[in-house]
Amino acid sequence: MSKHIKIFDTTLRDGEQSPGCSMNIQEKLEVATQLERLGVDIIEAGFAISSKGDFESIAAIAKKLKKPIICSLCRTVKADIEMAAESIKLAERQRIHTFIATSPIHMEHKLKMSPDKVIETAVSAVKYAKSFISDIEFSCEDAGRSDREFLVRILTETIKAGATTVNIPDTVGYQTPDEYGALIRYLMMHVPGIDTIDVSVHCHNDLGFATANSLAGVLNGATQIECTINGIGERAGNTALEEVVMALKTRADIYNSHTTINTKELTKTSRLVCTVTGSVVQANKAIVGANAFAHEAGIHQDGMLKERLTYEIMNPEDVGLKETKLVLGKHSGRHAFTDKLNELGVQMTSEELNKAFERFKKMADQKKEMTDQDIEALIADEASQSQEIYHLEHVYVVSDSAKRPTATVQIRKESHILEEQEEGAGSVDAIYKAIDKIFGESFNLLDYIVQAVTGGTDALAEVVVRLKENDRIFTGRNADLDVLTASAKAYVTAINKLLDQRGKPRIKPNL
Ligand code: KIV
Ligand code: ZN
Repeated sequence: MSKHIKIFDTTLRDGEQSPGCSMNIQEKLEVATQLERLGVDIIEAGFAISSKGDFESIAAIAKKLKKPIICSLCRTVKADIEMAAESIKLAERQRIHTFIATSPIHMEHKLKMSPDKVIETAVSAVKYAKSFISDIEFSCEDAGRSDREFLVRILTETIKAGATTVNIPDTVGYQTPDEYGALIRYLMMHVPGIDTIDVSVHCHNDLGFATANSLAGVLNGATQIECTINGIGERAGNTALEEVVMALKTRADIYNSHTTINTKELTKTSRLVCTVTGSVVQANKAIVGANAFAHEAGIHQDGMLKERLTYEIMNPEDVGLKETKLVLGKHSGRHAFTDKLNELGVQMTSEELNKAFERFKKMADQKKEMTDQDIEALIADEASQSQEIYHLEHVYVVSDSAKRPTATVQIRKESHILEEQEEGAGSVDAIYKAIDKIFGESFNLLDYIVQAVTGGTDALAEVVVRLKENDRIFTGRNADLDVLTASAKAYVTAINKLLDQRGKPRIKPNL
């Protein structure tokens, strides 16, 4: 009989920890809502004690979502566990996930604890967590480099203490698939009671083995996979959700397993995570890369025209890819636009809808074809900008190949408008200098990335900007027919997030 493999999504915790992937509460809620639609079994919503923002977003997700289990991470420390329990108390289905390192190198250098003390601490933590709720996951951090006999001891004791899931992370991505599969098999054979609970795999991708290792774990008895959308995460990332899910589905003959994921939502979820974090998926990335289903070579195209199965092992529609050219145009009315939003699974208030429709009409006037991707980019902008305090009112650039360009920018806060002008090395430099002048400070620009949403010279330009302040990264993203407008708006979005985080009133009295 086919085995149910639980999908434990940690995009909002392990994924969000990676540089450039931080999200605010609103963005985390948006991703969590899409993860629920995708059908994940468990959402690890954050690490409650790590920051006020993390705690609040876990609590908001716990309150809003009904179907998945909402999980909160904590160390094996009382205060952490209390905070984790508090953060998920409004969730219909709750899980506390507590972890401690078990490898000699971590126990000696990081924890400075003896192995016996680590076991004692883990057992007390599981028992304490159990006093709040029944669903407790215990993780042996750096299990991949831990002594097997020690893992058997600590897992035996934590299961006795009440753990209902045990997780075996390859924290540093060191294991090979054969080795990791053998480790899971060994634990399945030697830990009493392990077959009565869930065994989870959690693999990092430092050697590019994360997907292969997770699947090796499944072949050897694991019943849960921890993963992130697009494989985002610390260093080289975590196991990519879309890869393990499609591998289990496409090679059910090998794995004899299934998940409850609605695979038709995979592409959309991947794009949402890119939009919200400003991260970019490489074109040749399995399942969700732009070229994952593209056939370029003549011999492949010829084969495809004769029979799709010659070169395609998955149906693009199964991952939610649709050939959607020319979906809407300038003659499309409000009704068609609303239908399209429904089809794309976008929910809006009528006020948001009015604004989005107005913007769509303006764009459709200038651009012949509005594809699904164009509309998704437009909607994502509307959603992020609706929260903003400062808005780009106007940008005007004079650019001449013989002279330095000059930008004039207007920023609005409610009914106040401030204008400044600056020269720059290029047009974007001039715009950003003018914006800095308005805000009275020079923001620390970490990244500026431009890409076209679709093909053609009338493609929407998508700009991602990352600003850095005190080790925190603030991402702004915008799509517009004009690359300079998109650049200015993305910068203003990132500034809004940064200023919101500072929580202080603006320096310039007139803004
Ligand atoms: O990689 C890891 O070990 C982790 C644990 C906290 C589960 O992310
Ligand atoms: Zn991890």
